[in-house]
Amino acid sequence: MKGIILAGGTGSRLDPLTRVTNKHLLPVYDRPMIYYPIQTLVEAGVTDIMIVSGKGHAGHFLELLKSGEAFGARFSYGVQEQAGGIAQALGLCEDFADNGKVVVILGDNILEDSLARAVKDFELQDRGGKIFLKEVANPQSFGIAEIAGDKIVAIEEKPKNPKTHLAVVGVYFYDRQVWDVIKTLKPSGRGELEITDVNNFYVKQGTMTFEQLQGWWGDGGESFDSLLEAANLAAKKQK
Ligand code: G1P
Repeated sequence: MKGIILAGGTGSRLDPLTRVTNKHLLPVYDRPMIYYPIQTLVEAGVTDIMIVSGKGHAGHFLELLKSGEAFGARFSYGVQEQAGGIAQALGLCEDFADNGKVVVILGDNILEDSLARAVKDFELQDRGGKIFLKEVANPQSFGIAEIAGDKIVAIEEKPKNPKTHLAVVGVYFYDRQVWDVIKTLKPSGRGELEITDVNNFYVKQGTMTFEQLQGWWGDGGESFDSLLEAANLAAKKQK
């Protein structure tokens, strides 16, 4: 399975830290933020990885990460010319995926759990998608899932009145249908192609499986506090 790391966007919630650099290059304890999703993929055995960043900083990623050899991986690079949303950035990876299944991770998501078993499970899953859920205190800041037994009923992006506290983590497994789904998306209220709309396609199709994340999860790009928390958690894990 190939891996995709999405590292575009303007990082406006972390201004002024992101005024002259990309959010995913900011330090999280002893390394740049994007090292964490790279390590998560490589540790799960996913080493053929495409990294999509925005224009303006794309050269910085190349200089920092190079071929991927130092990580035991092989990197390809894509450039998202406008900040058109996570799903738009993902759409740039269709040729890279070469009709196979993909695991996508947002460049600001830091996970304690290994994805190794989920990668194996998804290889065996007939078709569809797979996501991870985690209880959060501030559900208005995330995609929020409603579940019934082992099924997801619906996902709402940053709901004003969240039905649950189950956030959709920024790790997504998709089969090859994803490329056609992206082509049907319309921009949301914030002018972006939403990954939540992609996920809801699979939910409606009845092919979206999920797991609850066991360990801690940091979304380093969500706020100054989440960035600080991610650094503290990463420090604890490394010591
Ligand atoms: C994105 C997704 C959201 C998800 C979150 C996880 O939000 O749109 O559904 O819960 O990542 O990190 P963003 O952080 O881009 O606003």
